[in-house]
Amino acid sequence: MSRDTLTHILDLARWAPSGDNTQPWRFEIVDDQRIRVHGNDTRDHILYDYDGHPSHIAHGALLETMRIAASGFGLTTNWTISSDGDDRSPTYDVSLAYSPTMVRDPLFDCIETRTVQRRPMQTTPLTETQRQALINAGGEGFRVQLFESLGDRLKVAGLLWDSAKIRLTCPEAYPVHKEIIEWRARYSKDRIPEQAVGVDPATARLMEWVMQSWERVAFFNRYLLGTVAPRIELDLLPALCCAAHLLVQPQRPPAHLADWVHLGIAVQRIWLTATHLGLHLQPQMTPVIFRWYARAGRHFSTEPTLFEQALKLSGDFERIANATPTDDLGFFARVGVSHVPQSRSIRQDLVALMKV
Ligand SMILES: Cc1cc2nc3c(=O)[nH]c(=O)nc-3n(C[C@H](O)[C@H](O)[C@H](O)COP(=O)(O)O)c2cc1C
Repeated sequence: MSRDTLTHILDLARWAPSGDNTQPWRFEIVDDQRIRVHGNDTRDHILYDYDGHPSHIAHGALLETMRIAASGFGLTTNWTISSDGDDRSPTYDVSLAYSPTMVRDPLFDCIETRTVQRRPMQTTPLTETQRQALINAGGEGFRVQLFESLGDRLKVAGLLWDSAKIRLTCPEAYPVHKEIIEWRARYSKDRIPEQAVGVDPATARLMEWVMQSWERVAFFNRYLLGTVAPRIELDLLPALCCAAHLLVQPQRPPAHLADWVHLGIAVQRIWLTATHLGLHLQPQMTPVIFRWYARAGRHFSTEPTLFEQALKLSGDFERIANATPTDDLGFFARVGVSHVPQSRSIRQDLVALMKV
């Protein structure tokens, strides 16, 4: 196939989602039927990238996007992973081949329009067709649960409220929040633009000022109920204003890099399917992340009470999900009908994503 075709496929694939828009990949066109993806992760400086797994999920989302993009050119993809025992920098060799029977995947048109919606959505319930399509999109090996009733959404709102308290009072999370927001921006190539964060302009200005230093954040939190306003706007209201919360659980706990990559494939299929159904989605991964740390016995903060709070959160989450402490709660999100967001993360240019 021509270099133009491969370039076009990569140009579409780069729209795959990644935590905080980190785009943990670089591309290499090896020959006319092979693309190599050089994966990386951000665990060294991003608390939320627990053992690199959210980056591995993003790698899976990328490979699935590449497969769907290739289908539009009559091509199949087949990939293998090699990591030399170090899952910090896996490589994925993707072979492409023409197939006379290949039809364009119906999700092809959603690759570029899929985007996160962090603002409150409508509470219009899911239709039976939407419900079944979301559940089936997870595919084999994954269980998709939906929490739809007002009672269930209230429980999830409580969970997110508690999780947000950990997030906002955790000194280790502070540099992440400071780094990933591109202030006063509507679009951002390598971060999250302020207007896509989900707060109103006045709160954004206050956040920008407070987040200049951890001392300011700690002062606000302690004396001015600093976590209350952002938690209402970013967690409580969005948790109630949606059609459903959606939990994707691997049927057996992920043990290898490939298991996390497969979770990412399922996630991207669900997300693109939501887009195809006219729905929007927002991942809400902090309860998953803090529970992962708590259940792994990993003290993620120098602030000792946060581990205790994460343990309590884990129990609450397991009760909602009807799960045991050893189950993996892979991916958590909310879905609903909403307008298209006015602001979004865009992507680095393809040339910047090519391995040099
Ligand atoms: C593994 C993973 C975890 C994510 N976690 C969150 C999250 O907890 N909260 C959130 O608002 N967005 C989350 N996102 C969404 C990303 O921030 C978003 O996909 C990225 O900024 C690109 O924006 P786009 O999806 O609009 O293209 C997550 C995405 C992935 C792939």
